Amino acid sequence: MLSEEIRQSFLDFFKKKGHKIIPSSSLIPDDVSVLLTTAGMQQFKKYYTGELNALREFGSQRTASIQKCFRTTDIEEVGDRTHLTFFEMLGNFSFGPAGSDNPEDLSAAGYFKRSAIFWAYEFVADVLGINFERIAISVFKGDNEIPFDEESYKIWHDEIGLPKDKIILGERADNFWGPTGDEGPCGPSSEIYVDGVEIWNLVFNEYYKEKNGVFKKTGNLGVDTGMGFERLASVLQGKDDVFETDIFMPLIAKINELAPGLEQKIIRILADHLRSSIFLISDGVRPSNKETGYILRRLLRRILAYSVKYDIHADLFPETLEIINDKFGEIYPEIKKIKEILSVLEEERLKFEEAVSRGVKEIGKYPEIDGKTAFYLYETFGLPFELILELGPKEAVKNLGRKDFDKESQKHQEISRAGITKKFGGHGLILDTGELKAVDEEEMKKVIRLHTATHLLQWALREVLGNEVGQTGSDINAERLRFDFSFGRKMTTEEIKKTEESVNQKIQENLPVYFKEMPKSEAEKTGALRFFKTQYPEVVKVYFIGFISAEFCGGPHVNSTSEIGKFKITKEESVSAGTRRIKATLIS
Ligand code: SER
Repeated sequence: MLSEEIRQSFLDFFKKKGHKIIPSSSLIPDDVSVLLTTAGMQQFKKYYTGELNALREFGSQRTASIQKCFRTTDIEEVGDRTHLTFFEMLGNFSFGPAGSDNPEDLSAAGYFKRSAIFWAYEFVADVLGINFERIAISVFKGDNEIPFDEESYKIWHDEIGLPKDKIILGERADNFWGPTGDEGPCGPSSEIYVDGVEIWNLVFNEYYKEKNGVFKKTGNLGVDTGMGFERLASVLQGKDDVFETDIFMPLIAKINELAPGLEQKIIRILADHLRSSIFLISDGVRPSNKETGYILRRLLRRILAYSVKYDIHADLFPETLEIINDKFGEIYPEIKKIKEILSVLEEERLKFEEAVSRGVKEIGKYPEIDGKTAFYLYETFGLPFELILELGPKEAVKNLGRKDFDKESQKHQEISRAGITKKFGGHGLILDTGELKAVDEEEMKKVIRLHTATHLLQWALREVLGNEVGQTGSDINAERLRFDFSFGRKMTTEEIKKTEESVNQKIQENLPVYFKEMPKSEAEKTGALRFFKTQYPEVVKVYFIGFISAEFCGGPHVNSTSEIGKFKITKEESVSAGTRRIKATLIS
């Protein structure tokens, strides 16, 4: 069965059984307890808890979907035959009272274990055509907190007729699911195996785990099933490798064509990461140093680092993006934003080339990489910790742990904070850097935020108007920033808007702001922007915002851009021929 047919037959089947078909939700969940969508049930959490009413919303207590999912826990496993970061999950769901729980009942009423198990079996045996002999299942055997799921056992054994030796009694780790995050619906699960491969997980939510860790029986019964699409396709297509299914074949072929001779593991990692990055970007994730942005950056930088390491000369992004669009664009139209996706990929590639690729080459030179060196490599070249571990010489990284790295990173943050406090100690005018002035703590906070905003503004102006823009003056008080810059004409409304939006975008991405002290000659080589009127000392500070902005600057600045708040341009005017002035404020 081809993958398209599998998707369709699943949805058709559950539609016939009274389910409302719901489109996949975004990979960025509404549910703030998790970073990314990891299961089909997530978008329905409020229906399980009873906060929302499915009958009212969908006209049925039954839904089915094909959900885009992303699991970070599997990043390190990717490269073998079965693990993926991004995958699709087929699922059917029921919310609230279980109705008759009779599989013959095709109404919109809720159901529970009996219907769920009967339908799953019918789908696997009759629709997918899998022989009884190939099927085995598992049920939860119970422990001191949650009892044996005898009900499910009986349905499989007494009603469906599965022999005892095809029924595995599983532990909590395998046969109990949820909640996603700290609290929420959860319950015992029953898994279906075909030829020994787990393909479907049927979860019966009959508990609610409270924040304090206690499992409470809930009257809000729920069914939540999930079937890994790629794994199912591999079983149905007689492959023991998800990358050999028709879901991946065109992409694998393309990678082989663009980069012949790569080891299979590397090809699989590239295929997985290219696909998942594109889906993350199409749902609005942007590379950054935090949370989902960091996950995306890690994937992209791994792809780029492999390109350096394995001498791949082709630019993998544009051509694979096209292939991925051919394969998934119909089902997930959001990935059709090719231009936008490509520009994010492109931007990250450029940043990578500016620094990280040097790091990839440099990393081989260290006989030992400890936390301090790893942090240096991260800070100087933007090499994610995981890549340092992966690409560093085996001997050199053998004692390196995440904790050592985090400790260094923390130390660094404390040092920059301590520096600022010292400078501001005392009374009267507590801050006077020439550019910034403040008389009390309150004011100081504001001018510091406006100061970092000024750097973002300069960056954005250069993005929007081009690199001829250069600072000719700056003045900041607690109310506003004022930035003078070289540019030959009045800005259009469109350009002003774009500049403002770009600044706000970077604020939202919550980029880290940090500085490095270095000899002036070295700082000049980094290409950091400077204000040419000023005379700089022999040792200077260069302030960085993420990987987008670098300026000669004495500081102080916020620690990360989200502290700035919302940025608004209030005026654009002429100062003299060839010089414009922007005034801007923060509105939160
Ligand atoms: N939530 C369960 C899982 O992810 C079933 O959908 O396996």
